[in-house]
Amino acid sequence: MSKRAAVALITTAMAVALTACGSGGGSGDKAGGSGDKALTVGFSQVGAESGWRTANTKSVQDAAKKAGITLKFSDAQQKQENQIKAIRSFIQQKVDVIAFSPVVESGWDTVLKEAKDAKIPVVLTDRAVDSKDESLYATFLGSDFVEEGKKAGDWLVKEYQGKTDPVNIVELQGTTGSAPANDRKAGFGDVIKGDAKFKVVASQTGDFTRAKGKEVMQAFLKSQPKIDVLYAHNDDMALGAIQAIEEAGKTPGKDIKIISVDGVKDAFTAMAAGKINVDVECNPLLGDQLMDLIKKVKKGETVERRIKTVEGVFTMDQAAAALPTRQY
Ligand code: AHR
Repeated sequence: MSKRAAVALITTAMAVALTACGSGGGSGDKAGGSGDKALTVGFSQVGAESGWRTANTKSVQDAAKKAGITLKFSDAQQKQENQIKAIRSFIQQKVDVIAFSPVVESGWDTVLKEAKDAKIPVVLTDRAVDSKDESLYATFLGSDFVEEGKKAGDWLVKEYQGKTDPVNIVELQGTTGSAPANDRKAGFGDVIKGDAKFKVVASQTGDFTRAKGKEVMQAFLKSQPKIDVLYAHNDDMALGAIQAIEEAGKTPGKDIKIISVDGVKDAFTAMAAGKINVDVECNPLLGDQLMDLIKKVKKGETVERRIKTVEGVFTMDQAAAALPTRQY
């Protein structure tokens, strides 16, 4: 072999070796053409405001582990600016997919466009964005919050069927501008507007937390001479409100009927004790479905644009029997 041929052979061998190192290394493409490489997913969670949220976080983290997905988890502490920062950081880190539960509905187009330009698919989970450009995200997995509000309203209409006296309702709304607060209010309002005896006499945000739910209910109890019904957009606010009602010397579930949403164990316990009249289920256990979707989206498979969670409604008389089987 000539000297020149030997040098060419060594150079080719080195190039092959370097390529092999690159394809197996840390952040490079490990696919080897199979499309089944270990994925890295950036997940921006709303916060830790409620029992529902804690269960949702656990479900996502457990499912990622089970699916062999590396999850970069970021808690936004209920602040949109923190979620935007987290998404930008995921883009910089070149994660494979970004998943997030948007704290509020509006104001996402710019950052979602940045993810799109970086060719990183985005999956929405739990809450939606109000963006007109549907190409900014691949799919949305979560509950139908309007439907939940309607179920709450349906229960109320049935409960007061045949009665004519005015029914004064106070409403504890979720986080201002969030999809569940907007939609649960709208769905409920739609159902009760057909009957003039139902009056929402006060409505304020309790930010989906127990502390704020209690504080706002205390204010309602002071300012409203007659409250028949409390409609709380989630269980944590309902549980906080129950404390306020009891401290005011009233009996929750009787003096003031309580409609809540979520169906967490603590609320079922309160319902079994007669303190919540009805709980509209909102299932936080989205982790496994989310990981499946993420894998499909990354592989370029077709997924449905909207995947709704299947949920029920539980009344006081069903609570004790259902409690032992509640998973969250
Ligand atoms: O987006 C789901 C809502 O957010 C749940 O009802 C509530 O508990 C949570 O904080």
